[in-house]
Amino acid sequence: MKIYIKAEAFEKHKTGCLVVGSFESKKTEGLVKVIDKRLNGLISKLFKDKDFEGKLKQTRLIYTQGKIPAERVLLVGLGKEKEFTIEKLRQASGGSSRAVKDLGLKKISTSLANPPSVSPLKKGGKGGLSAYDISKAVTEGAILSLYDFTSYRTEKREEIKRIDEIVILIEKENKEIKKGLDEGIKISEAVYIARDMINHPANTATPTYLAEQAKRIAKKSGIRCKILDRADMERLKMGALLAVARGSDEPPKFIIMEYNGGKKGEPPVLIAGKGLTFDSGGISIKPSEKMEEMKHDMAGGAAAICAIKAAADLKLPVNVVSLIPATENMPSGKADKPGDVVKAMSGKTIEVISTDAEGRMILADALTYGERYKPKAVIDLATLTGAVIIALGYHATGLLGNDKNLIEAIKKAGEKSGERVWELPLWEEYEEQNKSDIADVKNVGGRGGGTITAAAFLKKFAGKFKWVHLDIAGTVWEYNGKPYVPKGAVGVGVRLLVEYLKNL
Ligand code: BES
Ligand code: MN
Ligand code: ZN
Repeated sequence: MKIYIKAEAFEKHKTGCLVVGSFESKKTEGLVKVIDKRLNGLISKLFKDKDFEGKLKQTRLIYTQGKIPAERVLLVGLGKEKEFTIEKLRQASGGSSRAVKDLGLKKISTSLANPPSVSPLKKGGKGGLSAYDISKAVTEGAILSLYDFTSYRTEKREEIKRIDEIVILIEKENKEIKKGLDEGIKISEAVYIARDMINHPANTATPTYLAEQAKRIAKKSGIRCKILDRADMERLKMGALLAVARGSDEPPKFIIMEYNGGKKGEPPVLIAGKGLTFDSGGISIKPSEKMEEMKHDMAGGAAAICAIKAAADLKLPVNVVSLIPATENMPSGKADKPGDVVKAMSGKTIEVISTDAEGRMILADALTYGERYKPKAVIDLATLTGAVIIALGYHATGLLGNDKNLIEAIKKAGEKSGERVWELPLWEEYEEQNKSDIADVKNVGGRGGGTITAAAFLKKFAGKFKWVHLDIAGTVWEYNGKPYVPKGAVGVGVRLLVEYLKNL
């Protein structure tokens, strides 16, 4: 797919479909007004008859019958001007791009990326929307909405709809717009890779596959990459990770990626991602209904791999390390059992109450391994608890941490990227629930506050570092399809992390 900027008057642009945004309004304004005139007041009539009102996500297709070079105009609603946000623009761009694709057209021409001085976003820019913000949002919205996972479809492939070209139409060349486009493309590419990894079933996306992908990505993007295998884990005494891996015939991998874009010797940001390629629950086996969803239990790992890729591609001036403990969680005669006590890499002993609380085990050893980098901040991402879905539903990632500034920085990145996070308390009282009668800690803290006790467990291994835990169990998967998130893997965390790293 090609995506590029073209400076040309909209009413002169030849295309199958021109996307034009409009706020909720009783009359036509800006570009809509220009086109309306050329179409002899057709759009005014739509407004009058309430066939199109500019409501957010509303679309309306018009045939221009040769009155302008664009064969069709797709009006897309931007909602109320006073309530406009960059996220709404991302959604409008995504929704309209998807609509053009669904029409079976091959090319999208969008006028949504014009700077506030030109576009109908003029007065909507009260939130300080820059030409850069606008163009990045339009680019991300468009590309991300067009994602499709078709690797396993062998029948009727010719029926798969695909856009070949996106033209970002602007009035005048502008550096900021160009920058927004370039960044939007690189970030979206990283999100695509994350979505692919997560959508692939567990018989493809094994720990070995993840390690190979990480190596391939690292080579392309100039990132150092090292893979530890079982023998290395034994040498390092990663007893918690090894306990989880024990029941599976798939060899576990520990993926290390290092990107040095910052000053030499500057402490890195450490990202740790749960790379559980299939979570059956182990001996504490899960019910079979919906167990197939547990192929996505490596989404934290995918985010860690793809965020560092995007950071490298954007040449961000920061040092970043991504650590991904990758394994399956399976029952077998060799599997770890409820009641087992294992010794983590840190030396702490863990009583395994449930073999299904495996994410915190493998992350514990990743966090301990990370100590050698003396990171300035640690962020872990994991599909860690079903409880976070009870607490926050599907619209926010759970956030817990031990450092106010880091927490605020992640929240801010969440708002800006549209990957929103919501903080839960991590008071000392919760740590009580993880006390074991025979070991230093147990891996389940009882019924109440499951997301919090899981984070309290991780806190024991995050050491003295500034640390944030992101529970993405509720945000990892899109069940219905949203304007720029088709059904399936969201690729959550990539855009959030990149935004955080950019702001450093
Ligand atoms: N991977 C699951 C959590 C999960 C559940 C992710 C639903 C996405 C959707 C995790 O390993 C798990 O099984 N957690 C248990 C913890 C419990 C045993 C303390 C859970 O949430 O039930
Ligand atoms: Mn589990
Ligand atoms: Zn899991």
